[in-house]
Amino acid sequence: MHTIVSREKLSPNVTLVEVEAPRIAKMRRPGQFVIVHLNEEAERIPLTIADADPEKGTITLIIQEVGKSTLDIVAQEVGGTIRDIVGPLGSPTELIESGRAVCVGGGVGTAVIHPIAQGLHARGVEVISVIGGRTKELVILEDRLARYGQVVVCTDDGSYGRKGFVTDATKDLLDAGGVDIVYAVGPVPMMRAVANLTRPYGVHTIVSLNPVMVDGTGMCGGCRVTIGNEIKFACVDGPEFDGHKVDFDELADRLTTYRDFEKRRLEQCSPQECRIGRGQ
Ligand code: NAD
Ligand code: FES
Repeated sequence: MHTIVSREKLSPNVTLVEVEAPRIAKMRRPGQFVIVHLNEEAERIPLTIADADPEKGTITLIIQEVGKSTLDIVAQEVGGTIRDIVGPLGSPTELIESGRAVCVGGGVGTAVIHPIAQGLHARGVEVISVIGGRTKELVILEDRLARYGQVVVCTDDGSYGRKGFVTDATKDLLDAGGVDIVYAVGPVPMMRAVANLTRPYGVHTIVSLNPVMVDGTGMCGGCRVTIGNEIKFACVDGPEFDGHKVDFDELADRLTTYRDFEKRRLEQCSPQECRIGRGQ
């Protein structure tokens, strides 16, 4: 059992949960994730380890409430428990040793950018984070990312920071030159757009893929992705890959597989189960 020691609402549908997991807190590296199993009836869901405190023995998970399983986890109060947390899973991020990195986070994908920026900063790499949300209230982790370097905030509607997509601000940085690598995490259209943007500049670009995962050990094939005509499993070979080689069409197609099921399951929730999803 893993006890929840703190929780914080970051935006209307994103919650930070800090939970006891001492062994994972010591071992985890940027880019790795865990599979969380709230209780016997719950689904297993993959979540990036957004941060960890080895002294306290805790890890930080940032959860977007998109379905019943994520709603159930964020409904847990401090002192509540999560039955199983398996990890750290996946390959750690390929971190450069020096130079300048641009870390691009779209919406809740910013949670995945956080440990990457943290790891780069610890190595002495100059980090510029470009983070975006549709509106001001959907921008997350600006203060935390500011610990590691400059942060450029963008909103689609201009309600905070620069008006426009994260790709607009990233283009300006690429035009200015001196960018050694770009890390981009967010919705699939955003990662595809960043990869298309950086390609003509010849800047290596790493994206973090989020296909459906089941076992997280490379056995079930659920997280199959195509990278440069090779089949890979995101849970063991990734989740991060060369953005210039990802088959984004296939990824987008496979991500729609369970959308109707998840919608139906959410509609079947009791009012109490879904109170957070309904903003109550
Ligand atoms: P969103 O749709 O609100 O987009 C967030 C930001 O991304 C926008 O403000 C914009 O700056 C940028 N963006 C979006 N579409 C773009 C495009 N076509 N071109 C350029 N920039 C674009 O994001 P959200 O609702 O917070 O994110 C939800 C999605 O992110 C879900 O589909 C979820 O599965 C995915 N996600 C992915 C990962 C991952 O590891 N790749 C992690 C968490 C969430
Ligand atoms: Fe089963 Fe990756 S989640 S192979």
